[in-house]
Amino acid sequence: MLPTLDARLTAAAELVRPGQPVADIGCDHGKLTAVLAASGRYPKVIGADLRPGPLAKAKQTLENAGCLDRAELRLGDGLSVLSAGEVGSIVLAGVSAQTTWEIIEKAPWVSAVGGPRLVMVPATRHSELRRWLWQHGFALVADRPVQAAGRWYAVMAAEYTGEVIEPTFTRCLLGDTGRWPEGAGYAAWQRAKLPRMRLGVPDGSALAAEMDAILKEGN
Ligand SMILES: C[S@@+](CC[C@H](N)C(=O)[O-])C[C@H]1O[C@@H](n2cnc3c(N)ncnc32)[C@H](O)[C@@H]1O
Repeated sequence: MLPTLDARLTAAAELVRPGQPVADIGCDHGKLTAVLAASGRYPKVIGADLRPGPLAKAKQTLENAGCLDRAELRLGDGLSVLSAGEVGSIVLAGVSAQTTWEIIEKAPWVSAVGGPRLVMVPATRHSELRRWLWQHGFALVADRPVQAAGRWYAVMAAEYTGEVIEPTFTRCLLGDTGRWPEGAGYAAWQRAKLPRMRLGVPDGSALAAEMDAILKEGN
């Protein structure tokens, strides 16, 4: 039986480049790997995880979905399981923003024009992942707000262009989510975190002024 994907992984699957190999890094339960493999839209589907336990779960999911023969499972850290140019899309879903950028940083072949599309669903700190991507030459080609299990997520796709951008705090907080009907809900959820974020920022700094302006807007 094919697994059901939550809204996060459904949106992530829609951002994978069709017709090219794809890797689901940190595949864990393997639900996304199975849905991608069963779709027949990709010449190669790789599911990978750092730990054997999750990979065994993924194998079981693929078996249950009847598509074990249409995916490759690989054990290893981040993108070390791939060779340069092997895939057109890399999905990194359900790991922290920091783990996401550390995984990208360890594979310099990703930061090349014409390189793979990164499809990301950070579990935490969406704003910081957007900042990191822009500061490291990636363009956000999609930034979609979705709700799953009572939380808001941002499902992002990025491609390397080499153009470095120094974004404002507000741009990092909301990204391009405002283009979606769900953008207002996402913005309210992101803004609700501001008072706590503001506590760690010194008064008088440019960042404090920007945060205070957003907080004032909300009053
Ligand atoms: C919370 S699960 C997310 C599963 C699935 N991608 C999702 O979004 O529902 C995170 C998975 O990432 C794996 N992981 C964490 N760091 C990793 C790394 N550096 N390389 C590969 N997998 C990693 C963990 O072992 C775990 O199975």
